Amino acid sequence: MSVAEPADLTVADLHPALGDPALTSMNFLNEVSERYPAAVSLAAGRPYEEFFDLAAVHRHLDTFHRHLVDDLGHRPEQARRLLLQYGRTKGIVHHLIARNLAVDEGITVDPEDVVVTVGCQEAMFLVLRALRAGPADVLLAVAPTYVGLTGAARLVDLPVWPVAGGSAGVDLADLAAQVHRARAAGLRPRACYLMPDFANPSGVSIDSAHRQRLLDLATQEDLLLLEDNPYGLFHSDDGPRPPTLKALDTGRRVVYLGSFAKTVLPGARVGYVVADQRVAGPGGRVGPLADQLAMIKSMVTVNTSPIAQAVIGGRLLEHGCSLVAANTRERSAYTRNLRHLVAGLARRFPALPDQPDLPDRPAVRWTVPAGGFFVVVTVPFPVDDALLDRSGRDYGVLWTPMAHFYDDTAPVHALRLSVSAVTPEQIDVGLDRLAALITDEVTRRAG
Ligand SMILES: Cc1ncc(COP(=O)(O)O)c(C=O)c1O
Repeated sequence: MSVAEPADLTVADLHPALGDPALTSMNFLNEVSERYPAAVSLAAGRPYEEFFDLAAVHRHLDTFHRHLVDDLGHRPEQARRLLLQYGRTKGIVHHLIARNLAVDEGITVDPEDVVVTVGCQEAMFLVLRALRAGPADVLLAVAPTYVGLTGAARLVDLPVWPVAGGSAGVDLADLAAQVHRARAAGLRPRACYLMPDFANPSGVSIDSAHRQRLLDLATQEDLLLLEDNPYGLFHSDDGPRPPTLKALDTGRRVVYLGSFAKTVLPGARVGYVVADQRVAGPGGRVGPLADQLAMIKSMVTVNTSPIAQAVIGGRLLEHGCSLVAANTRERSAYTRNLRHLVAGLARRFPALPDQPDLPDRPAVRWTVPAGGFFVVVTVPFPVDDALLDRSGRDYGVLWTPMAHFYDDTAPVHALRLSVSAVTPEQIDVGLDRLAALITDEVTRRAG
């Protein structure tokens, strides 16, 4: 934004969310990347671009087109209309998403309870817009929280109350305490948002027993859970994955948010929401929450691009609707990178966790997630945007200050590293540079 230009409007006269850190955060992080294009980026949570294949996009489109004609019996002009005309608000690949959830996650859903959205981001927005009925409504969210969720909540004027995450992924005592505190203040906690699998940014996962306890608490407290699961397939061992909350959900407590950005293509901008909660309407008519979300969607994006949906649908069809099968190469690359990064941190910061900070050996700690894209590194000094800028400029390495994922201004002594968009060689260079930055910063502060 230029300072000298005459202005026609002021931000203060626009929606209060504009200018809020939750909305400016992503732009800021993108701007820093653009400012230092030669830097190694351990910041971006984007999928690895070497796997992108333009020819496959055309093939997926053809596969889905053949499915419409051969499997679903559409006449050629009907199939053409489905792909190229305005279409069904809830989407045209809902049946394949339901099949995918059954195959990969053991989740049984009625395709009518699925809304295909413009990325998971739109799904979050629709759900929050629907749940925010009045000024007493609040959303609980496990902290640190994905900034896209906080930004969407701001846009619908829904306050976000942090719930402690901790090493278990969600602190159930704190969740219950926040629910009670909100209710005692005359507020209405509408739901709790969380990522049970390899959360962004913490990398933490919730184990099976704790998932069940969380569902029991949600039932006891009459609370919805918003389960966001973009990273669940990228687990780094070959043992069984814990079931999703939705797979364990026998009482329609869980609204499940899905994204194809990491498992198929971010450029397709396709995600979805499973919202099977029954909503009573006028005249006693009862229908799924999905129908209410579709009503909102019809006023936001009308329908998700059917061409983009067809690309996703084709990819699903080519792998028997299994994204696990479709992502074997991706999973092994991300796993390799995660192990490489964690081993690289251990080599560069050999100090024992309880060792005092020394200028040449700062006490640096990091998480060791069982999958996903993210590792959190804790350092003995506050990490802010100015340090990130200096890191890009003077050290040639980018990462994400963890402060961006907290909804307050308290200093945070941690940064997030992402392994998804880099090679092991880039990880090595990036970690050398990060180690130099951390050592210099500790020395500078000690002096
Ligand atoms: C936790 C989480 N939820 C949602 C999204 C957004 O997904 P989409 O690209 O499908 O909108 C992301 C993207 O990074 C994410 O990390």
